[in-house]
Amino acid sequence: MSFINSFLASILMYFPKWFVRPFAAPYVAGETLKSALDTVRELNQDGFCATLDILGEHVQSEAESFKIRDAYINLFQSIKKAGLDSNVSLKPTHLGLGINYNLALKNLLAILNTAKETDNFMRIDMENSDYTDATINAYQECYTEYNQVGPVFQAYMKRTGDDISELNTAEDFNCRICKGIYRESPNIAFQDREAIRTNFIKATQALLTGPGYVGIATHDITLIDTLETWIRENDIPKTRFEFQVLYGVPMGDRLKKLLEVGYKVRVYVPCGEAWFDYAIRRLKENPNILWYILGNIFKR
Ligand code: FDA
Repeated sequence: MSFINSFLASILMYFPKWFVRPFAAPYVAGETLKSALDTVRELNQDGFCATLDILGEHVQSEAESFKIRDAYINLFQSIKKAGLDSNVSLKPTHLGLGINYNLALKNLLAILNTAKETDNFMRIDMENSDYTDATINAYQECYTEYNQVGPVFQAYMKRTGDDISELNTAEDFNCRICKGIYRESPNIAFQDREAIRTNFIKATQALLTGPGYVGIATHDITLIDTLETWIRENDIPKTRFEFQVLYGVPMGDRLKKLLEVGYKVRVYVPCGEAWFDYAIRRLKENPNILWYILGNIFKR
């Protein structure tokens, strides 16, 4: 069955967008700002906070990067106006890091300025290893301007322990830890699932025994269970961390249970016109979801 699911997921990219749209819908909060804000409002009503991401990466021109910068500025202002519990996540190459560092930094600082004006937080997602150093540098430059900004660590990267030691030095440090989604060389990244899990646990424990705040971003129930037990056994206050998941990834009743014991759970909500590639990537990661989506379509 899983072979059939993988095959179906891999051929979906060759179908027209109108056909793929129902498969994409569970992962993406729509193409418009209004639909994104409506999704966040619903999540807030259910007890979740959110982080909104405008889909896309690797802009090809300065003009394009300015368009994305302005969209993020508008996003921060709209979140404030709507009174929603959501911060913002963005990808540095969507703001020009693939073109040049100074362009991306200028755009990040302009967005961060609006985060400050609207009293909100800006998360800088971590992309593939070509951009790790530049992303950390940009984060550090942003942090000197306004401290409500934070980086992401990837547990598959062998350098992550060192990066944590270097950056997690103050109480206002706020990061996300995730497994890492890009294909990386075995020279710099663990490939084995168990090794990545072990490093995820080590990294989270290092972060939580240091001063900073951690977003634990995973759908891996075993990992969540292990970390939750460790957190309880070590009396880590609930104000030191949150759990994070991607919008639409099925988690059974695990998220409700986390909310019930008083943990904060943040949902990463992607929105915007570039939904097609994102949804195809999600389906390839978990082809079994096809049947869950088909079930929902027919129930509707
Ligand atoms: P794992 O891959 O073992 O998945 C556990 C279970 O969840 C499996 O059953 C799997 O099929 C299902 N699942 C996981 N992800 C799924 C998905 N996307 N769609 C459908 N089913 C899925 N990466 C990165 O490199 N830089 C970043 O900045 C971020 N940011 C980020 C934010 C948040 C909130 C999350 C949750 C994840 C990220 N990631 C990321 C992605 C992350 O690195 C990782 O690739 C995915 O979360 C999958 O890893 P899991 O820890 O969920 O475990």
